[in-house]
Amino acid sequence: MARVLAIETSCDETAASIVEDGHLVLSDVVATQIDIHCKYGGVVPELASRNHIVNIIPVVEEALEHAQCTWSDIDAIAVTRGPGLVGALLVGLQMAKSLAYAHGLPLIPVHHLAGHLHAVYLHKPDETRPVGPAYPHVAMAVSGGHTALYRVTAPGEVVQLSNTRDDAAGEAFDKVARMLGLGYPGGPIVEKIARNGDPQAYRFTLPRFKDGGFDFSFSGLKTAVLTAIKKYEGDTALPQGQDQADLVASFQDAAVRQLVDRTVQAARSEGVQDVVLAGGVACNGALRTAMRTALKEHGIELHVPPPRWCTDNAAMIAGTAGSEAARRVGSGGQEDDRRINAIGAWRLDQ
Ligand code: KG4
Ligand code: ZN
Repeated sequence: MARVLAIETSCDETAASIVEDGHLVLSDVVATQIDIHCKYGGVVPELASRNHIVNIIPVVEEALEHAQCTWSDIDAIAVTRGPGLVGALLVGLQMAKSLAYAHGLPLIPVHHLAGHLHAVYLHKPDETRPVGPAYPHVAMAVSGGHTALYRVTAPGEVVQLSNTRDDAAGEAFDKVARMLGLGYPGGPIVEKIARNGDPQAYRFTLPRFKDGGFDFSFSGLKTAVLTAIKKYEGDTALPQGQDQADLVASFQDAAVRQLVDRTVQAARSEGVQDVVLAGGVACNGALRTAMRTALKEHGIELHVPPPRWCTDNAAMIAGTAGSEAARRVGSGGQEDDRRINAIGAWRLDQ
């Protein structure tokens, strides 16, 4: 399967990409809808679907153009089948089905999280091919919709080790930003403001579960931030300036501590030498640094994609589809590709 054109529309990015042999990214086009959803403080599902349908054809055309490909250069069409917003997924799925049908190409459905975990293998033509993680390794998917740890035993063999019990980490960043009136998506804004704050200003504690293994929880932290906001000037104003930076830095520090703590525990308990960090929250510089340092203390190496392939994109989907083993993960079994449907909620190891 040499060249795969993939489409990704699981949330608010309309994306198309062409990837060769599962790793070489020839084009990578992402039309973001941030400006549209920003004023609502989060993604509005119907608006996401409506904007995908407007953007999808120009985005696919651009992906072909950037890669200097015509349809005769493409060997397969891949598409994100789930998990995600069903109305949004259906736009990409229908486009991919139609293209596969019209051009007589195979259609490869891909699990969105398999895509995030595969992003660590991608590179552009002028970049050297990354040395991937050894097997077995532990992988973390940390985004707006997911915070989970996996054991990846062999190519294509994944077992989920833990999950969040409530909010995803990215959701917590987004909610804290919204509580402080900072805009959407919260992650990059919080990270920027946190650079000027004191992470020790508030000592938010880590959640512990008696039976929880490496599970995550972010709703307690979110509530603690809300309580701090309410205490600020007797509920009459939102923290600003240095006060805001201190609160945001303390929140980010607690979120990062939790993500690092669980990942180090899981990696040690699984006895692995390599850890993969993927998903939108993996863009966060404080998380990347803290995770790398903490793992290094135990002789474990961190593999993390460049930020452009941490947030949603179609290169990770095309790469997964082009890699024999990776595309088995969460493939949902064999089905007639003309009849496949979107799957909104879908575990990676099912
Ligand atoms: O992977 P992604 O693009 O979409 C999902 O599959 O959810 O992740 C988006 C999430 C958002 O919650 C966003 O706030 C978060 O990733 N994010 C960040 C950063 N950049 C994006 N969180 C923390 N720090 C960042 N720099
Ligand atoms: Zn994602």
